[in-house]
Amino acid sequence: MEPVIVVHGGAGNDFDERVAEFRAGVEQATHAGWDVLLRGGSALDAVEAAVRVMEDDPNFDAGHGSFLNANNEVEMDAMVMEGARLGYGAVAGIQRVSNPVSTARLVMERSRHSIFVGAGAEQFARSMGVPVCPMEELVAGSSIHLLRPEDRIFDSACSSDSAGSNTATVGGQASQTGDTVGAIAMDASGLLAVAVSTGGTAGKMPGRVGDSPIIGCGGYADNELGAAAATGSGEALMKVMFSKTACDLMGSGMSPQQAAEQVLRLLERRTGPSQGGIVLINPAGEVGSAFNTSHMVHACISGGKEMWIRD
Ligand code: GLY
Repeated sequence: MEPVIVVHGGAGNDFDERVAEFRAGVEQATHAGWDVLLRGGSALDAVEAAVRVMEDDPNFDAGHGSFLNANNEVEMDAMVMEGARLGYGAVAGIQRVSNPVSTARLVMERSRHSIFVGAGAEQFARSMGVPVCPMEELVAGSSIHLLRPEDRIFDSACSSDSAGSNTATVGGQASQTGDTVGAIAMDASGLLAVAVSTGGTAGKMPGRVGDSPIIGCGGYADNELGAAAATGSGEALMKVMFSKTACDLMGSGMSPQQAAEQVLRLLERRTGPSQGGIVLINPAGEVGSAFNTSHMVHACISGGKEMWIRD
C-alpha cells in the first residue's frame, strides 16, 4: 500500500491572524509523521510522532499550549487507536506530562486497561518512566493572554449555548475553542491508526472530559472501515459518535469526502448547529475532510506526492 498521513491542528474561529502559525506547525507535524512512514515505521508510530510535534508547539491547544480550566490549571486528554486489533488507549484530565499522546500509547500497549484519568493517569505515566513536568511548563502561547486571572469570568465561563456547544468567556470575549490536534495514517502494510490530543475547551470546569480521549468520538481506526480524527465541540461530537459514525459511513460505501460531509451534516442536524471538523482515510488510502468553522488547518502527504495543506 502507498502510505498516507493526514494531520489537523484543530477547527476553530477567529484566528485569522494566527493561521500562518498553525500552518507552519501542521506542516512540521505532517513531515514528522511522513518521515516515520518513509523509514518504514508503522502508522501508529507516525501519528504519535505528528501529534507530539503539535503538543510541543505552544500554538496548539494540546501539551505545551493547552488552554486553562476554570481553576487556571491544565487538564489534558489524548487517545491512540490502531485498526488491526482495535487496540486503544487514552488518558483524560492528565496534568503533568509533556506528551499525553505517548502516555495514551503506553496505556494501550503496556496496561490491561483502556483509559486512565487524573491522578491515576499521572501515576501510570510515572510507573512507565514518563518524566513529569511542572504544570507551569504546559501553560504557554495562547493560554497566557487568553486567561489572565484578572479577566476570568469563570462563574459563567462554561455554559452550553442553545446549539449545545461550549463557549468559554475569556477576557470578556466569547471564544469558540477547538484547537485539538489529531493525525491519521495508513502505513505500507495497510495498518490504519489515529492519535488525538487536546487541552480541552478554555475555561472548562475542572474534571470535564471532552470527546478527544473517547473511542469513536475524538477518533477511531479500524482497518476494515477507515480512520478518523475529530475536532470541535466535544459535548456535541460525543452525542453522534462523530468518528465512529464517519467510519461506518465509509464502511457502507461512501468515499471519505462524502462521509466527512455527511457526518458534519448529522452533527448540525442532531445537535443544533454545533461546530466541528474531521479528517478521514479509508482502507484504500483515499482521504476526505470537512469542517464548519472558519478554519481547520490540515495537511496530507500520500505516496510520492507533494504535501497539500488547507485551512
Ligand atoms: N474537541 C475537544 C474538546 O471538546 O475537548
